Amino acid sequence: MHRRIPWFRTDLGDADVAAVATALRDRRVTTGPLTAELERRVAAFLGVPDVVAVNSGAAALLAALKALGIGPGDEVVLPGCSFVAPANAVLLAGAEVRLADVDPVRAVMDPGALEAAIGPRTRAVIPVHPNGRAADLDTIREIARRRCLVVIEDAAQALGSRDRRGPLGTGSDAGCFSTGITKLLATGEGGIIAARDPAVLAATRRYRNQGAESPAGNRFDHEGFNLRPTDVLSALGVARMDGIDARTASLRRVHRTCREAFSDLRRLRLFDVDEAAGELPLWVEAIAADRDRVIAGLAARGIEAKPYPPALCDCAHLRCPAPLPRSRFFADHGIVLPSGPDQPDEDLARVALALREIDRQDGGRMPEAP
Ligand SMILES: Cc1ncc(COP(=O)(O)O)c(C=O)c1O
Repeated sequence: MHRRIPWFRTDLGDADVAAVATALRDRRVTTGPLTAELERRVAAFLGVPDVVAVNSGAAALLAALKALGIGPGDEVVLPGCSFVAPANAVLLAGAEVRLADVDPVRAVMDPGALEAAIGPRTRAVIPVHPNGRAADLDTIREIARRRCLVVIEDAAQALGSRDRRGPLGTGSDAGCFSTGITKLLATGEGGIIAARDPAVLAATRRYRNQGAESPAGNRFDHEGFNLRPTDVLSALGVARMDGIDARTASLRRVHRTCREAFSDLRRLRLFDVDEAAGELPLWVEAIAADRDRVIAGLAARGIEAKPYPPALCDCAHLRCPAPLPRSRFFADHGIVLPSGPDQPDEDLARVALALREIDRQDGGRMPEAP
């Protein structure tokens, strides 16, 4: 029997282990200088003056919403095709979710649908950059300017990815990143908020620490919560920043290998990536005619793959039962194949072989988004 192939593989090296051990030995366990160092390193990587680290990508979204004044009575527009985290952050901030359908090719927010979803109480829009694919920020920002909306980029899956203007997550009022274990800067759990306005960053920092005006102070005059990251994981983040260029190159290698190896499949098609603009595909994502059969077929061969999450219009607690046919299309056909910077070529070759076997069996025709 073959070794199991995980859907995401990123290895921890000796330098990572040593960095964590040193943090523990130095009693750097809660938020402190290693978190400040991580913030400096990520800010330099993104080419912005400053960022704030928190304990998850979801926390980054919540803190950004709060720092930008979004709350009860407000509506926030999200793309219907997304992981649920930004929607839950909106609910936690006390606001309501409105959904806009996505475009039929890249599964990013359709600006026309955004415009149609804006109502009198809409205060913000959260475009998601799924798997490093850039949402159309120029058009979204123009709509936001006309309709007086705040723009918060959900760049949880897009650290290191760029559009023609620059790094994703740095082109709006705030950009939110995840450093979860299946991300480029994988610290296990963690999040980053980038914003150009120092007042927004200050409000984010305050919200992260129970609304305290200064970390060591004893005044609590603002709403806040505990979203503090630990220096143990920040130490891991700092160590992993050293290898971020190599991991970026590796993600490109994995994607290129898969694009070539899967090009003859009749019922599975990878999403296009705008490499010329600098887009970085974090995962190997595809549309499959009979997605669940592909996942089952891979599982039978010891290979892990993941379905796309359900469309947000089908998450009952959001109470947004809008018919969003394109979001549903991607939810029904989207698949994440074995990915990650440390996925070896021989495992990718095994995945290609397995997909070819499955592709030869009977299956539906390749579908197109409505
Ligand atoms: C689009 C999107 N937004 C937000 C998040 C939340 O990030 P985290 O899991 O670090 O809380 C994720 C996580 O994968 C995500 O994919």
